[in-house]
Amino acid sequence: MNLFILIGLLGNVLANFEENYCVLNDDGTECLEEEKKSSFLLGYEIDKKKGLSDNISQTNYEELLAKIEIDKKMPNGLSRRNGVKVGHTEDVNVGDGKVVKVITRALRPLLFEIPDILTHEECDHIIKRAIDPKEGGMFSSKAKGGLTPNEVQYNYTGAEFGKASGWFGEFSAWDINDDKYIDIDEVISVIHASFSLWMLENDIKEIWEKMNVTVMDDGIISEEEFETLNTFGLKEYLHKLSKNDPRFKTRTSNQVWLNMDQSVDPLIHKIRERLVKLTGLDRKIIYGGEMLQVLNYLPNGHYHAHHDSETHQRADLPCCHQYSGDVLTSVGECKLCRYITFVLYLNNVEEGGGTAFPIADNITFNEMNMVQYGNVSTDKYNMMHGCKLSNLVIQPKKGSAVLWYNHLRNETDGWMGELDWYSLHGGCNIIKGEKWMANMWIPAPFGNSRHIPSIYLNNEDYEKAEAISQKE
Ligand SMILES: *[C@@H]1O[C@H](CO)[C@@H](O)[C@H](O)[C@H]1NC(C)=O
Ligand SMILES: *[C@@H]1O[C@H](CO)[C@@H](O)[C@H](O)[C@H]1NC(C)=O
Ligand SMILES: *[C@@H]1O[C@H](CO)[C@@H](O)[C@H](O)[C@H]1NC(C)=O
Ligand SMILES: *[C@@H]1O[C@H](CO)[C@@H](O)[C@H](O)[C@H]1NC(C)=O
Ligand SMILES: *[C@@H]1O[C@H](CO)[C@@H](O)[C@H](O)[C@H]1NC(C)=O
Ligand SMILES: *[C@@H]1O[C@H](CO)[C@@H](O)[C@H](O)[C@H]1NC(C)=O
Repeated sequence: MNLFILIGLLGNVLANFEENYCVLNDDGTECLEEEKKSSFLLGYEIDKKKGLSDNISQTNYEELLAKIEIDKKMPNGLSRRNGVKVGHTEDVNVGDGKVVKVITRALRPLLFEIPDILTHEECDHIIKRAIDPKEGGMFSSKAKGGLTPNEVQYNYTGAEFGKASGWFGEFSAWDINDDKYIDIDEVISVIHASFSLWMLENDIKEIWEKMNVTVMDDGIISEEEFETLNTFGLKEYLHKLSKNDPRFKTRTSNQVWLNMDQSVDPLIHKIRERLVKLTGLDRKIIYGGEMLQVLNYLPNGHYHAHHDSETHQRADLPCCHQYSGDVLTSVGECKLCRYITFVLYLNNVEEGGGTAFPIADNITFNEMNMVQYGNVSTDKYNMMHGCKLSNLVIQPKKGSAVLWYNHLRNETDGWMGELDWYSLHGGCNIIKGEKWMANMWIPAPFGNSRHIPSIYLNNEDYEKAEAISQKE
């Protein structure tokens, strides 16, 4: 079972956090269903038994850099661009006489910014296809509790009162560090852990105001004060916020998935060839990429910090891109094994909307800090404040792209290695205007399953492109 790293270290509240919580009916009087509490905390879902697979505190930074330097393309293995150093710029011919600049922006994660990889016409074309009703229309992300930005905000009505059932009504569950007081960090952490809501100090203050709660006026809640707190009403309120208010959701955007096959869209198909040139990866890997995900973020739209790959969370499951029917019946679930994320910016955002990497290239970041980062009050992982606290923010520019590696490479066999924890990233909130972007995710196999092709691979497209490239 996956546990929060924070909770893992604080065994005393473990039992409380393992509980399910109730999905209540609209007036909060009836438990409709027991829902497994989301164990998603800041992207770090750690299997306590296994510990951190990449023990960063024990890994010398030089060694990490050395790993990155093993950049020679291995036959039948995964290649990696050499970042050289932050700021390094290289001209790369991406085909059709197009030469682009590839600028190294970080080494952990290994990350490149590529201006003008698309023409403005190509950007417009992708947006046009995304909003074409034939594609089924843009939909709100249901993954990780998405909600569209325009859904109604729920306002507290004050209808409920009393002590919440279960751990939510217990002082000991809130007093995470066991110092006999509940502080604002603990309130934020408990709300995050129980409802997957991302709140900042001001949001909590707003809730206390709306609920006429004064027990925290001095910054802390004592055990005595806690007994007078309307935890039942609070639970209802938070529950409704989690269903109705897009501001606090993990993710708020609309999206659509587009087929990139040559026969469907030759223009979008061409982008794959550019990615072959950019990454030096085997064409089979690139053509085995997921469909193109096009996203639209409106004001307040955001995506809090997370990892794109799930290999650290569900080690025992097969990779989704190798998910055959047989695997489906025997295992029932899969994990995302995304080696590369390639983000294409399709418009200019007036204000906000950057792609942020809160811990990029922070050489002093270690496992212990990760625990501190599990402390949501650091705000570093919350993308609703313009990402001011992030180490690296790439601002969208129409036609430009950012490419990064979510995984290290396995030095032993040349295939997928461990998750690069530093690839933690998010979408900053849109302050003004809107954002259009597209994601191309390139999954890759681990050495022991490299014989299993990606289910996304269109062999006809692949063979054709191989034939053309061999003629060149
Ligand atoms: C990580 O490093 C710490 C500190 O040396 C050590 O106690 C722990 O066992 C290591 N964890 C793993 C999973 O290797
Ligand atoms: C909640 O309050 C806001 C601001 O006061 C208001 O604009 C909105 O319509 C209210 N929402 C509902 C569902 O009543
Ligand atoms: C909060 O207090 C004000 C003033 O006493 C009152 O008008 C309001 O109804 C109260 N709100 C709630 C939710 O109890
Ligand atoms: C969060 O971090 C601060 C400062 O590092 C610490 O004082 C506080 O106790 C932490 N809160 C929790 C809930 O761990
Ligand atoms: C790097 O991480 C350490 C430990 O968490 C933190 O104190 C420091 O502020 C971070 N530095 C940067 C530049 O983010
Ligand atoms: C790296 O490859 C070797 C040999 O295939 C394998 O034993 C090891 O488990 C791999 N490591 C990871 C992290 O996948």
